[in-house]
Amino acid sequence: MTHSLPLSEYKWRRQQLLAQLPPCSAVLLPAAKLRYRNRDAEYAFRQSSDFLYLSGFAEPDALMLLLKNASAESESILFVLPRDPAQEVWTGYRAGAEGAVEQFGFERGFSLDQQSEQLPGLLACCERIYYPFSEPVQGPDSLVAQIQGWCQQLQSKARSSAGAPQQLQNIEPLLHEMRLIKSDAEQQLLREAAKISAQAHCLAMQSCRPGMFEYQLEADIAHSFGQQGCRFAAYGTIVGGGANGCVLHYTQNRDALQDGDLVLIDAGCELDGYAGDITRTFPVNGRFSADQKILYQCVLDAQQAAIAAIRPGARFDDPHLAALQVLVAGLVEHGLLKGEVEALIASEAYKPFYMHRTSHWLGLDVHDVGDYQRDAESRRLQPGMVLTIEPGLYIAPDSEQVEPRWRGIGIRIEDDLLVTGQGSELLSWDVPKQIAEIEALMAQNRVHEADHG
Ligand code: GLY
Ligand code: MN
Ligand code: MN
Repeated sequence: MTHSLPLSEYKWRRQQLLAQLPPCSAVLLPAAKLRYRNRDAEYAFRQSSDFLYLSGFAEPDALMLLLKNASAESESILFVLPRDPAQEVWTGYRAGAEGAVEQFGFERGFSLDQQSEQLPGLLACCERIYYPFSEPVQGPDSLVAQIQGWCQQLQSKARSSAGAPQQLQNIEPLLHEMRLIKSDAEQQLLREAAKISAQAHCLAMQSCRPGMFEYQLEADIAHSFGQQGCRFAAYGTIVGGGANGCVLHYTQNRDALQDGDLVLIDAGCELDGYAGDITRTFPVNGRFSADQKILYQCVLDAQQAAIAAIRPGARFDDPHLAALQVLVAGLVEHGLLKGEVEALIASEAYKPFYMHRTSHWLGLDVHDVGDYQRDAESRRLQPGMVLTIEPGLYIAPDSEQVEPRWRGIGIRIEDDLLVTGQGSELLSWDVPKQIAEIEALMAQNRVHEADHG
C-alpha cells in the first residue's frame, strides 16, 4: 500500500502559496541536512516539514525556489544533489536535476553546485525574497548568508542591469497557516496514522505483564508501527510505569513494570510524514485499583468534556477550559484540593498536578505549526484543523499536599481530533479508554493465556 499524496497536491500547495504573494517575489526554502549521531553513523534522515509539504522531496541539502514574476507568472525550481553513481553506491538513489522535473513536477531542476551561478540571475527580477526566519543566521553556509551574498552580487551589477531584491520577509506565517488547515488527502493520512497508532496501543495493552521492562513495551509499539508500514515513530515513545508516568517527557524507558502500578504510554507513528499522537494509561496487571479508578475517571471525564467543546467557531482554549473545570471539580471532590472550583482555577492551584496545556496542533510535526492566537486572543477553530486533547493528572511521589494513597500516580489520556463542520471527528477512536473496556481487552488476552499456558 502506498500512502503518498499525488503530485498535483504539492503543485497546488506551491501555487496557493505564491498566489498570496505580490508579483516580483521569490521564496527560498532549504531542505534538512543529514545529522551525525556519532562518528560515521547518521541519524535517519527526516526532511524538514515545510520542505516536505511543498515538494514531497525527501533528499537532504536541496534548495527550493518559487518565483512569481512581474506578470504574476510562477515557476518552481529545485536545486538538488547531482546524480553520482559512485556516491549513490553508498547512499542510495538520487533523483537528480532531471528527477526533480520528471518525478516531482518542478518546472526546472538544477544540481546544487549550480546554485551560485544560477541564483543571482534568477533573483534579479525580484523585489522581495521570502525565506523561513527560523533558519539559523550564523555561519557562512547558512541560507541567510547565501541570500546576502547573491543580493550583494546583484547590487554591484545593479547600475548596469535590472535591479536587486530590496526586502527580506518571513515565509513562515503564510506557509504555516496553509499547513494548519488539512486537505482531504491530509485528513485521510492523519486518520490512518491515528488508526495505526491506536492498534499499537492495543497491542501494548495486551502484551503488558508485571516484571516486563518499559523498553519492552516500547519495542512492542515499534514492532506494531513497522508491521503496519510505518518505520518511524513521530516522536520518542514514552513508556512510564508508576511514578515515571509523572515525568511528562520520560523517554528513558528503562525500569521494570510493577504489579499494582499504572503504566503511561505516549506513542504515535509517522505515516508519510504525518504524525499520530496518542496516550493511554492502564494497569500493569490488567485491573485498576480503587484509587487509580477515581483519578483515571477524573481525567477521562475532563477529556470528554474537552472533546465536547470542539466545534467550528469555538476558541482554541475552550477545550482546555472545559477540561480544567472537570479536573479541578474532581480534585476537590476527592480531597486533593480544597476550596471553590472557580477560585482554584483562577489561582492555578491545580498546577502542581496538571502543569501542561490540553491541546496542540497535529500534522507533519507532532507539535504542528500555526498560530494559537489572533489579535492577542485564543483563535477560533475551523474545519480542517487537527488537534490533540490530552489532559492528565500527575501526583508526584513526594507530594506532601495529598494523602499518601494518591502519590506516584501519573495519568494522561490523549486523542487526535479533526474539527469538522458540525463538531469534531475522533481520529484515534480505535483504542479503548473506558475503564471497563481496557480491563476487558487486557483480560481477554490473559484468559487466553490461562487456557493455553
Ligand atoms: N507526545 C508529545 C505530546 O503529547 O505532546
Ligand atoms: Mn500531544
Ligand atoms: Mn503525546
